[in-house]
Amino acid sequence: MSPVGSLIALLLLFTSSLAQDKAVQPEARCGASFSETYKPVQIQAAQDMDCTWSIVRPANETTRVIFSVLELNPSADCSQENITILNEDFGELGVLCPNSPGIAAFESPGNVYVRVFTNSDALTRNAYLLYYSVTPANDVKCGGNLRGYSGKISSPNYPNRHQPFTYCVWHVETPKNTKAKLSFSEVFVEPDVACRFDFVAVFDGPTTNSPLKDVLCGRTVGEVETSSNAFTLVFSADYANNYFGFSVDYIATPKANSSLSCSGDSMTVLINPDYINSLGYNANELTLINKTCVANSANPIVFEVPFGSCGTVKKVKDHTVYYTNTIFASTAGVITRHRQLQIIVTCELESDSIAEIMYVTENDIIQDQAESGKYDVSLAFYPNEDFIAPVLESPYFIELNESVFLQATVQSSDPDLTVFVDTCFASPQANFQAPNYDLIRRGCIKDNTYHNFPSGSRYARFNFSAFKFLNAHPSVYLQCQLVICDINDSGSRCNQGCVTRKRRDLGSTMWKTNAVLGPLRLKRHSEPEAAGSVSEKTEDVVKTDQTSLYVMGISVLVINVLILAFVVLRYSRREPRGYRYHAVATH
Ligand SMILES: *[C@@H]1O[C@H](CO)[C@@H](O)[C@H](O)[C@H]1NC(C)=O
Ligand SMILES: *[C@@H]1O[C@H](CO)[C@@H](O)[C@H](O)[C@H]1NC(C)=O
Repeated sequence: MSPVGSLIALLLLFTSSLAQDKAVQPEARCGASFSETYKPVQIQAAQDMDCTWSIVRPANETTRVIFSVLELNPSADCSQENITILNEDFGELGVLCPNSPGIAAFESPGNVYVRVFTNSDALTRNAYLLYYSVTPANDVKCGGNLRGYSGKISSPNYPNRHQPFTYCVWHVETPKNTKAKLSFSEVFVEPDVACRFDFVAVFDGPTTNSPLKDVLCGRTVGEVETSSNAFTLVFSADYANNYFGFSVDYIATPKANSSLSCSGDSMTVLINPDYINSLGYNANELTLINKTCVANSANPIVFEVPFGSCGTVKKVKDHTVYYTNTIFASTAGVITRHRQLQIIVTCELESDSIAEIMYVTENDIIQDQAESGKYDVSLAFYPNEDFIAPVLESPYFIELNESVFLQATVQSSDPDLTVFVDTCFASPQANFQAPNYDLIRRGCIKDNTYHNFPSGSRYARFNFSAFKFLNAHPSVYLQCQLVICDINDSGSRCNQGCVTRKRRDLGSTMWKTNAVLGPLRLKRHSEPEAAGSVSEKTEDVVKTDQTSLYVMGISVLVINVLILAFVVLRYSRREPRGYRYHAVATH
């Protein structure tokens, strides 16, 4: 606002606060009764009180009661000290406890009773409330439910004056695994040190019962950050001194480096640009599979990925629909070694659930998996069945047919959780497009080298024998769907084992999540690697001892070929379709 504008505004504020003095007399009396159409009430209460203030209003009008100050004895228990709000029939509309947010509103037709209980501690309690009758003449329609990664909210009539007796509630939901950043470009409402009269309140959650994050009044600007992907905004104005209200822009930011949120027809990916920069890539060169699809926003980087275009691949398997796209970043400049970052995003849609899978690969090695929900589950290779120290290197080099040990761990302090491996499949590609090979599906073992170890508190363990995909695919990636259950719940999915489609009841599942891992690569792999995926590790191995390695390489190759021939023979005989360890088309 220009200096002249500010001066006018100041004058306005000054003259109108002169016009109406809001000094409200404390109601120290117990048991007063009010019959005015509206009234601000400043309650002061001492110890050992049980007082009821009665608001007497006609039954054909709605009485709205708005608390904007609540200072009860902070060390009192709610069962001893509280403010109980009752309707005409003495039914409970709500209870304000010593730890309740200071801002609360109640509505009921006709009379409303405010009953204050205090315990025996000697101190003064304060509460400020405004009540008024809502009639068709003064009712302001406002508020609403908003969804999306960004948006703008302003008071009714903004940038013009708001009306008296305005009470608006907006419920805002940003994509999962994000938090919201609110930037108030203007707040211009009646000033008061305690923001008792007109105010903008931000609740850190989906309802006005969520913790109160901030209350703004007077002339100000401000930034508020929520802790989750839902917040509630309240705007309340009383009977006089109506200014211009407020305007706020909000934008979602990923809680960690990145976040993915799936809906019925698209997925929303948010990435912190600093994260992309820290990996050495340029944030504004990111594209989807279809290179014409670029980010919708730069900070945070937002991709709204439609299921039907931009190169999104759809795959249907076992009544589950998977939509996958990939965000690519290539290093700029003339670099001979091909380095490429891929952020793979998959929405897994079932009739009753949606799962989000997001991970980062660099040079086709899975680097980073975004936490996708309530529980963070990690999947790791172990060198043996002691399950003591996980394999840290990636790719994990292993001999053909050697046992691969895996543990899925839920990161939680709750010892009563356990993990169940529902489905695990392998793919030669980091994006898990076809071919896929099932190790276990819906708890039913599909690979006869697969074996589950007894699961325990916060983990599930299994192993299988290393294999390779035919047709020169050097890598094996694993994707597992894991179910987290209460260890003491005998009816949970974790205790159901193999479940066929007909009785696919998840039981009392607590949580379902996905984890990816890979790649596994065969040691001293002789076939040419896929372009650009030659890793330093292979070179190291080669450098160690040329002659013995050469001999060993030959013998391993011979053994590999023999084993492979044996395996192919064995399974092509036993299973006539003969797709064992073979590229299994899933389309
Ligand atoms: C509020 O306090 C009164 C008096 O101590 C008590 O009877 C009532 O149960 C309390 N309400 C709640 C919800 O604790
Ligand atoms: C409620 O009823 C009273 C009289 O009974 C009437 O004066 C008043 O206008 C009514 N209010 C509304 C909102 O209809």
